[in-house]
Amino acid sequence: MAHDLIVRNVEILDGTGADAFRGDVAVAGGRISEVGQVTAGLTANGVEIDGEGATLCPGLIDTHAHDDGAFFRYPGMEFKLAQGVTTVVSGNCGFSAVPADPQADSVAASGGILAGVEGQFTDLEGYFAAVLERSPAINNMMLVGHNTVRSLVLGQEKRAPSSAELQRMREHVGLALEQGACGFSSGLIYRPGRWSDTEEVTELAKMAAPHDALYTTHMRNEGDHLLDAVDESLTIGKDSGVHLHISHHKSAGKANWGKVKASLAKVDAAIADGQRVTLDVYPYTAGSGRMIEYFNLKNIDTQLAAVVRIASCPAFREYEGRMLVDIAAEENTDLKELTLRILTAPRGDRTLCIQFIIDEADVETNLRHADMMVGSDGIPDLRGRPHPRLFGTFPRVLGYYVRERGLMSLPEAVRRMTSLSAQTFGLHERGSIQPGFWADLLLFRPDQVKDLATYDEPKTEPVGIELVVVNGEVAYRGGQHTGVGSGQMLRYRRSSFQQ
Ligand code: ZN
Ligand code: CU
Repeated sequence: MAHDLIVRNVEILDGTGADAFRGDVAVAGGRISEVGQVTAGLTANGVEIDGEGATLCPGLIDTHAHDDGAFFRYPGMEFKLAQGVTTVVSGNCGFSAVPADPQADSVAASGGILAGVEGQFTDLEGYFAAVLERSPAINNMMLVGHNTVRSLVLGQEKRAPSSAELQRMREHVGLALEQGACGFSSGLIYRPGRWSDTEEVTELAKMAAPHDALYTTHMRNEGDHLLDAVDESLTIGKDSGVHLHISHHKSAGKANWGKVKASLAKVDAAIADGQRVTLDVYPYTAGSGRMIEYFNLKNIDTQLAAVVRIASCPAFREYEGRMLVDIAAEENTDLKELTLRILTAPRGDRTLCIQFIIDEADVETNLRHADMMVGSDGIPDLRGRPHPRLFGTFPRVLGYYVRERGLMSLPEAVRRMTSLSAQTFGLHERGSIQPGFWADLLLFRPDQVKDLATYDEPKTEPVGIELVVVNGEVAYRGGQHTGVGSGQMLRYRRSSFQQ
């Protein structure tokens, strides 16, 4: 069989954690056709690329994305593709594009995180079809989110659902899982999820059990009550009988730094007991999200305000990229007043912020932990100055944490960002370089790869990423996005969604 693409002369890291070996990789019909010694030739329109000794690995998998709406607003997905990411898992932290009611403003509840998805579909198949019309650059796997489902059924009511309401929530979750979602996600610090009790979440997580799918969580607390929140998550995982995945593991706030060790010990004990638990982390000391979720307007936390920077702010664009303390000093006001003014302004609830709340030592503790995966948690709002994790997460792991800090070997880092994530999130026939698997590939220079996105200049693509192939098509090469749009919509442990 002749090949459509041959990448010659590369160090192959197959994604399993094995050491690199020298060889060639060939692609035919979107899939990897030969590895190592390539014998057959090219088709008439085939492309041959000389890798010149660079490293070829499977395309990277971002296990924690909020790209549900980005697939509509930015189908070129440049901020992910340029990092070597070929698949994202969206619908995290309890916010997902589906289920949706075209009559209701499904975006409002997410505070803009889902902007771009309005009124085009109701269920996962409708979402997949609508995204495919935009020819997305990369692949997408979806979670169905608790906050979204709860908003749809109960609005913003601060109470437990009736049994009829719970049943409707179950049906929404069940339908998404049937249509190919990889699990149910929660974001229990956010509204309306924060008004639910453990039992409600457990009942909904149970819907994932027949599919052997996941329960992923942005836990109820990541600061003073981190360990209680880990206990709650483990209980939900156990009682629902599903695989628990803890998102962006951290301990937030100076008083809590170091607690990630105790939290990981709880996870390790549960694993030793036979429970299925995994985690991911982003490689930065700041979090980011919708500002109004972090503040009680009746009692502004000025300690938190002191470490907050504005990412995007429709009410005061001039504040974007600035620390609240600097704005307050310049305007001769105090942090409390400034925070209130921002959050109560028209569309103030759409303000996204960046909080410097994490200890660098904890980031390293997390990354050193066995089987820790990497999720960017990037929020794709390109109008302001987003958290640099949106453009920098994966090259930062490969460049800073692997090459410079030596936290793990390169084959191990690649395994955690490819085959491990693919197995965990049910990406069928992806995540390793082997014949028959989909040809999602990344060619990079381990000695050069580096994130360039900073808090001041966050929308900067990394260096050292030479070539990215998505489903056999060259999507990025030599700093250029080809616009080929070969991404697929993935279904949990099944073939991709086809229209
Ligand atoms: Zn989250
Ligand atoms: Cu998130």
